[in-house]
Amino acid sequence: IEDPRIHGIKTRIRVVPDFPKPGIMFQDITTLLLDPKAFKDTVDLFVERYKGKDISVVAGIEARGFIFGPPIALAIGAKFVPLRKPRKLPGKVISEEYVLEYGTDCLEMHVGAVDPGDRALVVDDLIATGGTLCAAMKLLERVGAEVVECACVIELPDLKGRERLNGKPLYILVESH
Ligand code: PRP
Repeated sequence: IEDPRIHGIKTRIRVVPDFPKPGIMFQDITTLLLDPKAFKDTVDLFVERYKGKDISVVAGIEARGFIFGPPIALAIGAKFVPLRKPRKLPGKVISEEYVLEYGTDCLEMHVGAVDPGDRALVVDDLIATGGTLCAAMKLLERVGAEVVECACVIELPDLKGRERLNGKPLYILVESH
């Protein structure tokens, strides 16, 4: 049985056909952010799931993981670490490449931000093919952190991104087909 808050969240996500290119149904969470109740419900659902689970770091993926990750981190008393696109972080970084439909992209993390033994939650707005979350998990595991779970607002289950997470649990609020 679904939490009654989920419906309100679902109705606030705007689906934009053919953005940024033909055939893509873009899941726009900026409309969710315009509704303080729905935005708060989104954060609260994650906080209720993760508080008391001894999570020491919330890793947010650029760009929209920077919107949902920090309020979750503050509420559960964890540090927040941004996982960024290349050449954005000023300090020493480790990088993880991942494959896109055309070409590759890369996520970077500051060395020293996450320590061996840290218990990590990875946060993003959406999982499509799962490549981004997979790269994020690799960064955290390379420095000795344990990834407890990945959390996204939206899953596109038809793309089977979950299967690329090597059995790591993924928690989502809304499915979009
Ligand atoms: C989107 C989304 C995820 C990623 C998911 O980001 O916010 O980060 O794609 O795709 P995947 O599961 O197939 O890897 P986008 O590529 O639009 O980058 P942006 O957040 O920097 O705009």
